[in-house]
Amino acid sequence: MTTTGMRAPICAVGLRKSYGTREVLAGIDAQVVAGETIALVGPSGGGKSTFLRCLNGLHAFDAGTLEVAGLSIAPATHVSSPSLRPLRARVGMVFQGFHLFPHLSVLENICLGPLHVKRESRDRVEARALELLARVGLRDRALAQPSMLSGGQQQRVAIARALAMQPEVLLLDEPTSALDPEMRGEVLAVLRDLAHDGNTTMLIVTHEMGFARAVASRVWVFDGGKLVEDGPPDEVCGNPRSERARAFFGAAPS
Ligand SMILES: Nc1ncnc2c1ncn2[C@@H]1O[C@H](COP(=O)(O)OP(=O)(O)OP(=O)(O)O)[C@@H](O)[C@H]1O
Ligand SMILES: [Mg+2]
Repeated sequence: MTTTGMRAPICAVGLRKSYGTREVLAGIDAQVVAGETIALVGPSGGGKSTFLRCLNGLHAFDAGTLEVAGLSIAPATHVSSPSLRPLRARVGMVFQGFHLFPHLSVLENICLGPLHVKRESRDRVEARALELLARVGLRDRALAQPSMLSGGQQQRVAIARALAMQPEVLLLDEPTSALDPEMRGEVLAVLRDLAHDGNTTMLIVTHEMGFARAVASRVWVFDGGKLVEDGPPDEVCGNPRSERARAFFGAAPS
């Protein structure tokens, strides 16, 4: 992996990936400008999670070029390659299941990465963690164990943990789909605030079309391993060009 002079936080050209004979990413060309919030939508199996995982080196891709957060990732880079470490420090990831460490307090979960990966001082990291907890509405739960929190609260901690690394790019894969409607609202409100601030470049896989329309700068539709639509939310959701996207939005709850 090499450092590039590219300005775009995410730039994929001709990105391809197959599992055996099944092509899962069939040549993705996509670029994200700093501060954008992209909503990535589309039918199940379209390649959304695979694409996201390629962006932070959790999956290797087979061909094409990929630059993320100023770093160029080569095809077939092994997921455990030390060359991916700088990438992981610059790209945050939030999953559907929150993946918090159950034996650590909320505060320790948030501080872990900055302390051990970035080797920042504890005072500084804790101060930032408490600010982030306040931001996601959980300042008073710093010393709780994750199991004492609701799903929505745990997901907000997971977002604070990702932000504690001060990532250039934040990737979120269906961050609200494991939550009931009320908790979804709490988490979406946090994401909406982040998007409005414009300080974090975000790529969010979501089925929340109302959120995508209201918050995203652009909506991408993935289908069959291809980026079949890319444009402003009203255009893509309201008047999609491709037959496939028309069928998808016709079926998606708004
Ligand atoms: N480890 C794997 N081995 C083989 N095939 C895989 C693997 N991971 C994903 N796939 C296949 O790749 C395709 C894309 O999967 P992916 O998880 O990226 O889709 P998705 O768009 O995120 O779908 P969903 O909306 O259901 O989460 C699917 O056909 C899936 O079966
Ligand atoms: Mg997925």
